[in-house]
Amino acid sequence: MTAVVEGIGLCQDYVIAGGFLRPPEMLRAVKGVDFAIEQGKTLAIVGESGSGKSTLGRIIALIDRQSAGVLKIDGDEVDIGHSKPSPALRSKVQIVFQNPYGSLNPRQKIGDVLMEPLMLNTPLPASERRARAEAMLAKVGLAPEHFNRYPHMFSGGQRQRIAIARALMLNPRLLVLDEPVSALDLSVQAQVLNLLADLQAEFGLTYVFISHDLSVVRYIADDVLVMHQGAAVEQASREQIFAAPAHPYTRELFAATPVTDLAAIRARVARRAAHRGAVAP
Ligand SMILES: Nc1ncnc2c1ncn2[C@@H]1O[C@H](COP(=O)(O)OP(=O)(O)O)[C@@H](O)[C@H]1O
Ligand SMILES: [Mg+2]
Repeated sequence: MTAVVEGIGLCQDYVIAGGFLRPPEMLRAVKGVDFAIEQGKTLAIVGESGSGKSTLGRIIALIDRQSAGVLKIDGDEVDIGHSKPSPALRSKVQIVFQNPYGSLNPRQKIGDVLMEPLMLNTPLPASERRARAEAMLAKVGLAPEHFNRYPHMFSGGQRQRIAIARALMLNPRLLVLDEPVSALDLSVQAQVLNLLADLQAEFGLTYVFISHDLSVVRYIADDVLVMHQGAAVEQASREQIFAAPAHPYTRELFAATPVTDLAAIRARVARRAAHRGAVAP
């Protein structure tokens, strides 16, 4: 089976501007990372702040071009060069950020937020755009009357649902989720994680799930890639890595996560399952 996305020796260098008597410096933020994800699976990228998770995520999401290495989508090498990816490629890969408020235009109604990707990337007529946006609103647990509301009228969890809906409008194969629940309350986190799991099952989506929170990773991941100072120090199935973390850094990271967080998330997930179908808070 061809991987939906594959990275081979991916590297990213940033140039840090110099100052008086200080020459510019090069920072290698991602140091030769390899991975492959099959369709319908979730690879979690974990690591502390500054370890290079978002930098890697931006390469996978076709926002930044890597300094070295190869990125393949559906088996084909992609090189966005210095231009934007083609509409066909753009529609395959989408990204959701931690703070959807930052990426939602406060003056744009939610319906327009959802219809915009269709307008920019497809020849669909207005009536069809509207029908698809309304259908997607329902899919992410929002109500039809939300179509004409503005971003500030929603809670954090609802705004993240809107960001997820927008990311799905072009029927992507792959979603990069960069700390998608980190800014949300625990109970809302569980609901959004449930939604992501449901959408993955329904649409056969492949996820790159970036998080510093191991209790969340344990719930959502099939495989886990641990980053430390730009390098992938360990990569294994969720079962394997949680049962027997091999790398000293992974053990250190795991030791810092309270087990009770996980129990709390599981309990809330179970409660949410009982309420499925209700409009989200
Ligand atoms: N645009 C940039 N220019 C220079 N350095 C950057 C830039 N973005 C990130 N970095 C640096 O790269 C490293 C990795 O950052 P990042 O990928 O955001 O880590 P994480 O998402 O794991 O917190 C950090 O040292 C950060 O300061
Ligand atoms: Mg980050």
